[in-house]
Amino acid sequence: MDALQLLFSFLFILSSYYGVKAETRICNQNAFKLMGTDMGTLPFCDNKLPYNVRAKDLVDRMTLEEKVAQLGNKAIGVQRLNLPGYEWWSEALHGVSDVGPGTHFDKNVTAASSFPTVILTTASFNETLWKAIGQAVSDEARALFNLGLAGLTFWSPTINVARDPRWGRITETPGEDPFIVGRYAVNYVRGLQDVVGYEKTKDLNSRPLKVGACCKHFAAYDVDNWKGIDRYHFDAKVTERDMVETFLLPFEMCVKDGDVASVMCSYNRVNGIPTCADPRLLNQTIRQHWGLHGYIVADCDSIEVMIDGHKFLNDTPEEAVAQTLKAGKFHNLLHLLHRLDLDCGKYYPDYATLAVKKGKVTENTIDDSLKNLYIVLMRLGWFDGSPGHYSALGKNDVCSPQHLELSAEAAREGIVLLKNDNNILPLNFNGKQPKFAVVGPHANATIAMIGNYALKSGLACRYSTPVEAIGAYGNVVYAPGCLNVKCQSNNNISQAVQASAGVDATFLFVGLDLSIEAESLDRIDLNFPGWQQSLITQVANVSTNPVILVIFSAGGIDITFAKENPKISAILWAGYPGAEGGRAMADVIFGKYNPAGRLPITWYPADYVNKLPMTSMQLRPIPESGYPGRTYKFYNGSTIYPFGYGLSYTTFSYSIKSAPKLVTFDLGKLQQCKQITMLDGTQPQCPAILVQDSKCTERLNINVKVQNTGKRDGATVVFLYSVPPSNIAGAPIKRLVGFNRVFLRAGEAQVVKFTLNACKSFSIIGEDAYEVVPAGEHSIVVGDGSNPVSTQISFRFQ
Ligand SMILES: *[C@@H]1O[C@H](CO)[C@@H](O)[C@H](O)[C@H]1NC(C)=O
Ligand SMILES: *[C@@H]1O[C@H](CO)[C@@H](O)[C@H](O)[C@H]1NC(C)=O
Ligand SMILES: *[C@@H]1O[C@H](CO)[C@@H](O)[C@H](O)[C@H]1NC(C)=O
Ligand SMILES: *[C@@H]1O[C@H](CO)[C@@H](O)[C@H](O)[C@H]1NC(C)=O
Ligand SMILES: *[C@@H]1O[C@H](CO)[C@@H](O)[C@H](O)[C@H]1NC(C)=O
Ligand SMILES: *[C@@H]1O[C@H](CO)[C@@H](O)[C@H](O)[C@H]1NC(C)=O
Ligand SMILES: *[C@@H]1O[C@H](CO)[C@@H](O)[C@H](O)[C@H]1NC(C)=O
Repeated sequence: MDALQLLFSFLFILSSYYGVKAETRICNQNAFKLMGTDMGTLPFCDNKLPYNVRAKDLVDRMTLEEKVAQLGNKAIGVQRLNLPGYEWWSEALHGVSDVGPGTHFDKNVTAASSFPTVILTTASFNETLWKAIGQAVSDEARALFNLGLAGLTFWSPTINVARDPRWGRITETPGEDPFIVGRYAVNYVRGLQDVVGYEKTKDLNSRPLKVGACCKHFAAYDVDNWKGIDRYHFDAKVTERDMVETFLLPFEMCVKDGDVASVMCSYNRVNGIPTCADPRLLNQTIRQHWGLHGYIVADCDSIEVMIDGHKFLNDTPEEAVAQTLKAGKFHNLLHLLHRLDLDCGKYYPDYATLAVKKGKVTENTIDDSLKNLYIVLMRLGWFDGSPGHYSALGKNDVCSPQHLELSAEAAREGIVLLKNDNNILPLNFNGKQPKFAVVGPHANATIAMIGNYALKSGLACRYSTPVEAIGAYGNVVYAPGCLNVKCQSNNNISQAVQASAGVDATFLFVGLDLSIEAESLDRIDLNFPGWQQSLITQVANVSTNPVILVIFSAGGIDITFAKENPKISAILWAGYPGAEGGRAMADVIFGKYNPAGRLPITWYPADYVNKLPMTSMQLRPIPESGYPGRTYKFYNGSTIYPFGYGLSYTTFSYSIKSAPKLVTFDLGKLQQCKQITMLDGTQPQCPAILVQDSKCTERLNINVKVQNTGKRDGATVVFLYSVPPSNIAGAPIKRLVGFNRVFLRAGEAQVVKFTLNACKSFSIIGEDAYEVVPAGEHSIVVGDGSNPVSTQISFRFQ
């Protein structure tokens, strides 16, 4: 290394530490000058050229070895081209996290804002909130980047459909409805990525990015570790119909409507093929059909998983030298890995050079991947400097008072009121100082509230715990009753029971945490762990005053015993409410906030899980075998609480003010009627039409009047479902096609307008995976489970 180079490296290191001042852009005239190069001679730094031309120029300057060294998450850079290393892997599922190596915290910035986990935020059914959180998180991400503490590419959100209540990662997801999951993805991704003023840039390959998001895990993932079957070995057997209708839909919405910069393929196989080695899924679906502008990355060590876990394409016993054998197995895979741009891991960097030299893969393929990667970095301003005004963000934008308030607001908006006998909530002691018992393993929760993909250390900007927040409203006796949520001993229950006798109200903070439901850990039953149920029942039994049960969980719990216990007056579900969770719960309990959260998943009875293995992917029931089906769209059995359930401190009424009665489609000359299977064996003249053959431009306007008929101000979520004609085999019971959270003062009424696509909102997916619109009497159902209103719409084709 000569003196200039040394100086250059030093400046380089310096600039990554003092980002704000030194400006971390690569195309920096002075830096090149120090290297003795005139930047003007380098097309990859010419900001008048299109990104694809610049990326090609950069890649063409690299040797094969240099190229291959950039294909892992830890890209090492090319010093002679002034191209620094870049760590692609950062995470920001519900706040910037240091779980990925691209982000770390230091003495100056010890934590980032931690929002509730996604399942609770989803329960708000408020798209504005979902996007606002994405914007707050990306402000903090940019600030951390400026401070040299984070990268610009975040592998979030998780948009797998919560297919089974046992799944350990439900906390990360927006629930069981593919349409809701997709809408969440679009809003969160746009919140993270969009640069204000550039949302609608015509050339999407040059659209500036605030940070790069990533929709994962593609696809049909959602088994982590259940009775010895883990995600590294799981082969999801999925029909094309379920694929199109359920597992792919959120990803399609994320790519097409969210314009996400990246998709991550998953560990599992789908029908025998590891998703990361399936050119049909990666190339055809994501790139050709949906038109991804960005890169595809493999989940971490996925390639190793294909080789060692799935033993894909290779049964050779491991007898040769490990490295050579691994390389050989990798080479067998390579022709399938064509469309995978980035390896979170080391297989690509370790073995791809040899693969090119042996003729297993062309260097051109590697060039294509690198171009996808560098175009994203160019859109992020990594070469030319930050887009927008983000270079001004710094330390004070992380854990800012506004972001902490937004975190509390998200928890308030998401919390679901499940039971409220005699309107016991909100509690009001008319100015007198009450005495409370605060019991249960979550009574003094901190890190349990922030869930996974938070800070490894469990640190947060600050915590508002349940016991502290309740303590602001009265004198508190604290007795957890169990040492942790596993509650393996009943030794401490009597202390909680004693604490509860004679108080003005008892609060039970109970439920699950990452020791019960987590990545790599699925549940085996739907009950409270250990002695928790006994704790709840015994505490309730001695109470002569209100008992309020607050449940922390992602998946549903069979709480029939508590629902039916008259001594338990009120039940709230608080998901994992984030670092500000304590005060958010207290705001709801004591009436500063009127709850309006709705369950984003079905809460099934405990025996549901005896009727189907976690590994079955099928959504539709099979009556002959007792297979009950999955999600509100297909499961018609009893529930503890249905999808969309949630109470308020006020009441609402709904009516449909206007909706079309008849929709007719004129068939084009070349358009054929499609036969579908009818339950009664009849076959109408033109039973259905194919969506792909229709223009599908017709819009239907549906106006719903909603009125707050109670005495308190409050919000409600208006759900709009479409219900297909009753005689069609295999159709869903109903399907959500629109939703809107609205706030109404006591007595106030509002008309909520929905605009539906006449094809897309009334279609079904046939057994052959075709999307069709059936003729006949469809309906629209509005409202919540208890008092729905509906109207019929006739569909005819001529
Ligand atoms: C913290 O910030 C100060 C200046 O604000 C700086 O001098 C110091 O090096 C920083 N510490 C770390 C660990 O980055
Ligand atoms: C991807 O699909 C396109 C269009 O079908 C095809 O031309 C191309 O060769 C495919 N690429 C790979 C690497 O499979
Ligand atoms: C709650 O836990 C914290 C430590 O995490 C402790 O400092 C505090 O005293 C506890 N609160 C009560 C009421 O025991
Ligand atoms: C649990 O009970 C034991 C013995 O009765 C006591 O020493 C311990 O402090 C109790 N723990 C809690 C958290 O109440
Ligand atoms: C409830 O308390 C009564 C005494 O007050 C006791 O006899 C009964 O066993 C208790 N029941 C439960 C379920 O703890
Ligand atoms: C559920 O569907 C089955 C047939 O698919 C039917 O026999 C049963 O009556 C339905 N149950 C309810 C509660 O609607
Ligand atoms: C939706 O969320 C936004 C952002 O937090 C909030 O300002 C608004 O009041 C919420 N809407 C309703 C109806 O609760």
